Amino acid sequence: MIDLRGDTATKPTPAMRRAMAEAEVGDEQRGEDPTVRALEERAAGLLGQEAAVFVTSATMGNLIALWTLAKPGDDLIGDAASHVFQRELGGAAVVAGLMARGVEGTGGTFEPEDLHRAARSQTGAVEPSGVVTIENTHADAGGRVWPVRLALDVVAAARELGLTAHLDGARLLNAAVATATPASAWGGAFDAVTLCLTKGLGCPFGALLAGSASLIDEARERRRLLGGAMRQAGVVAAAGVYALDEHVTRLEDDHVNARRLADGLAAAGVAVDPAAVETNCVLIDASGMGLAGADAIGRLASRGVLASPGSGGEAVRLWTHLDIGPGEVDRAVPAIAAAISSP
Ligand SMILES: Cc1ncc(COP(=O)(O)O)c(C=O)c1O
Repeated sequence: MIDLRGDTATKPTPAMRRAMAEAEVGDEQRGEDPTVRALEERAAGLLGQEAAVFVTSATMGNLIALWTLAKPGDDLIGDAASHVFQRELGGAAVVAGLMARGVEGTGGTFEPEDLHRAARSQTGAVEPSGVVTIENTHADAGGRVWPVRLALDVVAAARELGLTAHLDGARLLNAAVATATPASAWGGAFDAVTLCLTKGLGCPFGALLAGSASLIDEARERRRLLGGAMRQAGVVAAAGVYALDEHVTRLEDDHVNARRLADGLAAAGVAVDPAAVETNCVLIDASGMGLAGADAIGRLASRGVLASPGSGGEAVRLWTHLDIGPGEVDRAVPAIAAAISSP
């Protein structure tokens, strides 16, 4: 099987496992785990923030961020197709008490005017209050990058409106590598930023939430409330430190492989737009080939290629990652083309 369901499909490499086995550890809840502390400091610097806290998953990072940046009854504004809006609203509602206001974005992005409209739709009289979240890269849009200028304009609009701003940067390093831009160019503008370790970075566990020192103190307390404070977590944090050393610049390989996959599929007549591939995801327009997304995914699986559905049910997503090289791409192309075009 060639597993293109997600860039989460990776297994830790032997070198990453060695780094984990050799990690110095301590009681993380007491701030005594040197490897966790090193990872948090590295991540804060990378994301242009003062401090960071190690969390179990990007979902937990996003939840703690939104909970810390807004109060019950506030609006949570974001792109309706984002991961937060598609998969994480339950936590935002139950734990943080937020009211979701989805914006219909374009290719995963939206404009400051969209934010103004969404924020003002609440009532005529009450000042908007709450948090806006954006996702960079945007998974459902096929790993699309938010242009830095647009992200900064949306943050400026949030400030004008009195809203706080959160960046779901689960794949921010893909955006950084694809555009040769420091992650801090986006990250430093937001009140809080989530970075995931288990996607293109290839770790088995964890994410980081970064923000000001006071916000991260508050986030640590909320992480404890959720049962997310840890003990000798340096064993898993070591994978993160290793990945930040060794797996960032190589994200470009995933991007090159995604373009190779898209070009190959387009040449084989599959409904793919290679020009839309900005990072490590390729979208097949199944409906353009007369198929429902689920049907197309089933056909691919029967030919040995695993894919995942886009949120609309019509697109099929293929993700490249650490465990996919040009050889896998070249085997996947004819298998996918045959699966989709067979009667
Ligand atoms: C953009 C984005 N944010 C957040 C998440 C949640 O990540 P996790 O599985 O670490 O909770 C995902 C997962 O795929 C994602 O794609």
